[in-house]
Amino acid sequence: MKYIVEPRKNAHGEITVPGDKSISHRSVMLASIAEGTSNVSGFLEGEDCLATMNAFRQMGVQIDRVGEGELTIHGVGRNGLTQPNKTLDLGNSGTSMRLLTGLLAGQSIHTELVGDGSLMKRPMRRVCDPLSLMAANVSTSEDGTPPVLIRPVDHLKAITYELLVASAQVKSAILLAGLYAQGTTSVKESKITRDHTERMLESFNYPLEVKDGCVSVEGGKQLQATDIQVPADISSAAFFIVAACIADQGEITIHHVGMNPTRTGVLDILQQMNANIEIHNQEMMGGEPTASITARASQLKGIDVPTHLVPSAIDEFPIICIAAACAEGVTRVSNAEELRVKESDRISQVAKGLTTLNIKVDEFADGLAITGGELSGGVIESGHDHRVAMSFAVASLRANSNIEITDCQNVATSFPGFVEFANSIGLSIHVI
Ligand code: S3P
Repeated sequence: MKYIVEPRKNAHGEITVPGDKSISHRSVMLASIAEGTSNVSGFLEGEDCLATMNAFRQMGVQIDRVGEGELTIHGVGRNGLTQPNKTLDLGNSGTSMRLLTGLLAGQSIHTELVGDGSLMKRPMRRVCDPLSLMAANVSTSEDGTPPVLIRPVDHLKAITYELLVASAQVKSAILLAGLYAQGTTSVKESKITRDHTERMLESFNYPLEVKDGCVSVEGGKQLQATDIQVPADISSAAFFIVAACIADQGEITIHHVGMNPTRTGVLDILQQMNANIEIHNQEMMGGEPTASITARASQLKGIDVPTHLVPSAIDEFPIICIAAACAEGVTRVSNAEELRVKESDRISQVAKGLTTLNIKVDEFADGLAITGGELSGGVIESGHDHRVAMSFAVASLRANSNIEITDCQNVATSFPGFVEFANSIGLSIHVI
């Protein structure tokens, strides 16, 4: 599937984007191993979260879809998952694979986790190494990539682990294994990563301690079913925030956006770039802060992206780079080598794409420098990466001719309905 995107100048609208991907995954995982029935609303029905849902169905959990984005999950309790009769195929979803590896390490079933071409190339030792320290029996292929094989063990050992990479997936995998370990498992992080697992464990009434960048859980307790309202995904909202900012005339409001402070780096970065962003209607939604965001046409300027903001904006760099291409001056992103091991190598994929659109880009091992300028049209390879595809569609608000984007089918992994939302605010995307 490819997109042909015609140039447009203006972007206007008021929208609510689909539910948060990270929170949707965790809602299914925790509700499945809780005691009792949980109801989830605002669940993201993208392929990644559906892969998580199907994996739990394969392990005997009854999950009823009772409406759009509404699930009733009949928890089987912490030891109630049953042996699946085939491999668990997690598609494109790194979050599913890494968190499940942790959660399944303490179960008495055998599992094998696989995925699509991109996921089968992604590094898994970052989770399997610490889990092995907990005496889990988890293995990868020789080069540290999937399939991940998980075998039952008698006991998991609690550990104290300092994260080597700033990764919420690794932190979460260890904490989920920690639910099954004897003693207290602690994860220390020097760079703060998203804390949805911690917040949701608290919602399921699981005791946990967070202190000075260290999260601790004691193994052996029960999770109690609860109802979860999933806020709109700030990572999806980001495409429309940038769309409004780079448009000639732009004003877009997005409602109920998740504003967890471990996720709002994109707003801080864009505001430092002089983006006109207003935050209003702040409220709490099931343990997570939310707000409406209004973004308006802005004279963006280049900045050196502060490195402490990198983890809290990690998924937004493709669209931040589009903003940078439309800004006056140079924007430098550094300390962001993790971008090379996402759904694609996002540093190289974005650098190639912007170069095609006539923008000057210097690529480094851990980031890139983008000099803002006039965007041409051209053919962009998305590298099968959903966020790269959506970002270059937004770039059409500044391009002087058509942008054609290849391999866009994976947009459905995180943002079902993206094309309809985008066309409703003024883009002109044709799906071929
Ligand atoms: C996620 C964590 C991040 C992020 C991913 C979702 C999560 O990955 O990029 O899209 O839900 O925990 P890392 O943990 O690899 O940084």
